[in-house]
Amino acid sequence: MTSKSISFETRYNIPKPFLKWAGGKTQLLDQFAPLYPREFNAYHEPFVGSGAVYFHLRSLKMNGTLNGSMTRAYLTDCNDELVNCYRVVQNGVDELILLLTKHKRKHSPDYYYKVRSQDPTRLNDVKRAARLIYLNKTCFNGLYRVNRDGQFNVPMGRYKNPAIFDEEKMRVVSQSLQTAHINYSSFKEVLNKATSGDFVYFDPPYHPLSKTSNFTSYTENNFGEQEQRELADAFRELDRKGCRLMLSNSSVAFVWKLYEGFRRERVKATRLINSKAHKRGKISELVILNY
Ligand SMILES: C[S@@+](CC[C@H](N)C(=O)[O-])C[C@H]1O[C@@H](n2cnc3c(N)ncnc32)[C@H](O)[C@@H]1O
Repeated sequence: MTSKSISFETRYNIPKPFLKWAGGKTQLLDQFAPLYPREFNAYHEPFVGSGAVYFHLRSLKMNGTLNGSMTRAYLTDCNDELVNCYRVVQNGVDELILLLTKHKRKHSPDYYYKVRSQDPTRLNDVKRAARLIYLNKTCFNGLYRVNRDGQFNVPMGRYKNPAIFDEEKMRVVSQSLQTAHINYSSFKEVLNKATSGDFVYFDPPYHPLSKTSNFTSYTENNFGEQEQRELADAFRELDRKGCRLMLSNSSVAFVWKLYEGFRRERVKATRLINSKAHKRGKISELVILNY
């Protein structure tokens, strides 16, 4: 046994996101906790990203502060690199850890750009997942961004010692994903899966605060006004079915109007509010609830 100190999360098997993701919800979890429904059947997260809310709900369930069932969870996203990564963490964590250990050992600017230049569609699933985690943790700002051809084009970040992964944490995450259904699909698939009494948390790409502030390139597909409207339609349809619904978005007139008639709560988030001046500040965001 080594005398290495073990973090609180690892000791108590508390899962946390293993990727940095634009729009990640980690900073909002304390404000979300009182907003979750007390009881629910299955859990659905159709824009899962780094899964901050899923892992949070799992940890609340473990410490006994959540009655909802987390044994049936449906996690989906339209980013296939991400979905592949989740599946590998779920089913192939040993092999993944071996590859990540190699990336960690070899990390350098030359190595970063060599890995970045690989075509992920020509790699096997585990190599593809290790590549995504490695680039995500070493790239500039931890921003997963692809260009119009679907290529990851972010330069290397200037971290002295990037924490690429932690073996124990990765195993805890893998454990927490064992019973989850993880799929590549559009958010609309939730309409076929969720039934009365289920809880759905939606975290779509936000509607932009202004015409110049839109960040919508997680994948090659953009998420514009039409998609926001379709999402609001899906929200209403699931409301009629009797699902419990929670949805995050920016606090702009367009979004307020889309969800007129539903409960709307404000939460405070620290965001990059002026990308030119690199200014960070607290802004209000919306959480829409049907309960
Ligand atoms: C704001 S992020 C979610 C962040 C997540 N809640 C977290 O804590 O990391 C939005 C996610 O939606 C995904 N996405 C974008 N358009 C989509 C669509 N039409 N259907 C499903 N997922 C989509 C993106 O790939 C991205 O991972």
